[in-house]
Amino acid sequence: MVIGFIDRLSRPFIWALDPEDAHSLVIKALRYMPLVRPAPDAKELSIRAFGLNFPNPVGLAAGFDKNAQAPDAMLRLGFGFVEVGTITPRAQAGNPRPRLFRLEADEGVINRLGFNNEGAAAALARLAARAGAGGIVGVNIGANRDSPDRAEDYVRLIETFAAVASYFTVNVSSPNTPGLRDLQQASALDDLLARVIDARERVQPHAGPTPVLLKIAPDLTLSDLDDVVGIARKHRVDGMIVGNTTIARPGSLRERDKAREAGGLSGRPLFKLSTRMLAETFVRAESAFPLIGVGGIDSSPTAIAKIKAGATLIQLYSGLVYRGIGLVTQIKADLLTALRRGHRDSLASMVGSDAADITAESWPN
Ligand SMILES: Cc1cc2nc3c(=O)[nH]c(=O)nc-3n(C[C@H](O)[C@H](O)[C@H](O)COP(=O)(O)O)c2cc1C
Repeated sequence: MVIGFIDRLSRPFIWALDPEDAHSLVIKALRYMPLVRPAPDAKELSIRAFGLNFPNPVGLAAGFDKNAQAPDAMLRLGFGFVEVGTITPRAQAGNPRPRLFRLEADEGVINRLGFNNEGAAAALARLAARAGAGGIVGVNIGANRDSPDRAEDYVRLIETFAAVASYFTVNVSSPNTPGLRDLQQASALDDLLARVIDARERVQPHAGPTPVLLKIAPDLTLSDLDDVVGIARKHRVDGMIVGNTTIARPGSLRERDKAREAGGLSGRPLFKLSTRMLAETFVRAESAFPLIGVGGIDSSPTAIAKIKAGATLIQLYSGLVYRGIGLVTQIKADLLTALRRGHRDSLASMVGSDAADITAESWPN
């Protein structure tokens, strides 16, 4: 309530700022804002996935809290889980500014940040300081831009964070580190996942069984997706996240000038493509593992559509920019209403119910 009020009051001010300055200010405010623990979520919203018990299925997507500065604030604002990162082993500055653009008329965002982050040691110190605080906090990991052995970066990060991460996301899908997405190619991915899963097994005796998820780009071809899902299943990853930002620019974009900026597009213009790729992944995964659906969720109907396309859990980021933090509470309330109206006792029965139909539609553009 109080937060909703502050959110509404501060929005015009925040919007007047450069988008990246606005974001730094929000992170600072979240770090210092006294937030009370929210009322527990309704039991029907709880979901078990990857061996973890999620109090509700709505997560904060990676990139909002790159340096693990405010995971507890975001949990208190109602998210069922928070994914911090992407974190790389060494700190790096990312691309030159400006590198973050709001496409207001489209309710989209383009970013080419390029994994700007303070590095593993800084994030580890923060996560270790909150260890025992509870809540599901996943760690999204990536390679340094100038790394001579990118797979080795992922291995090191698994070793570094296993004791404090609820789960890992192997991010091979950012468009803003040149060549990173080539790690989705069959032989590179096969090697990467072998090493990552091996690292996870090695640290398990002291860190416990930390789930490993693979986050993919929505721009893969369907034959690439066949390979990716096949390799993920072969290595028994615990789940997949579909997906990251797109390098495509739908013809429907109204902000023509900003649409020409290089980088990954997110928000409302990403919804159709990412939901199609989610359904395509769901039919290929054949329930071998659960999926997290992300891309363009900005309302309760889009959240429900993601679940029906195959998402056991959902994540969002850009929707917060346009709808504010109240979006999370709204989605949870409407999910609960949908469940009760349908006399269902959990969301599980909705997951993927539309996937086959979606994959039969013409390709979204
Ligand atoms: C400014 C910004 C930074 C992001 N940084 C990351 C990142 O570091 N790692 C990552 O895996 N995804 C990153 N993402 C992608 C989001 O996690 C998400 O996959 C994508 O934005 C689609 O969701 P949305 O439409 O709800 O924003 C970023 C997105 C934005 C808008």
